[in-house]
Amino acid sequence: MGTYYNIPLRERNIVLIGFMGVGKTTIGQLVAKKLYRDFIDVDQEIEKQHHMSIPAIFEQMGEDYFRKVERELIVDLCTNTRLKIISLGGGAYLQEEVRKACLSHCIVFFLDLSWECWKERLPLIVDNRPVLKNKTLEEVEQLFFQRRNVYSIHNSRVLTNNLDPEAIANEIVESIKWTWEVYEPNE
Ligand code: S3P
Repeated sequence: MGTYYNIPLRERNIVLIGFMGVGKTTIGQLVAKKLYRDFIDVDQEIEKQHHMSIPAIFEQMGEDYFRKVERELIVDLCTNTRLKIISLGGGAYLQEEVRKACLSHCIVFFLDLSWECWKERLPLIVDNRPVLKNKTLEEVEQLFFQRRNVYSIHNSRVLTNNLDPEAIANEIVESIKWTWEVYEPNE
């Protein structure tokens, strides 16, 4: 689990991980509202910094460049901020440095979804996800399950099949409040 930094649970950033298109941004925004916290979407931050879309960054600067910027931003957010809700891009957590920073400073929620449910969303997201470009359905399925192994290193998991974002956000908020009460009561 990496080094444990002694940040009180109530102050820890809450990080949402999971496959592309699972709803990390939508759900993250709702969780932030419910907990009166700021929301940070890592991809949107990178787009703002570069005045470019993610597909354009991939195309013009390359994936390696994107991964470096992504990693540095996440490590910075984990190390230097508290009380935020942060949603990561689906590939970010594959980098070990990102995993370590998240697990040692934040509370990591995995938004899980079955392959059957996710497959139905593919047509909606494929156009602005460079990682999915020119891949067969079989290749995408392989990627889905490879990544699922990495996402399985988390603090808490929420199954999002057929649930609406509001219900999922409520589940996350309840789970967080429960964790706060149980592990650090009366604060
Ligand atoms: C990526 C996921 C995207 C974005 C980029 C790469 C990935 O974010 O960071 O296109 O490798 O899975 P979402 O998970 O928000 O789609």
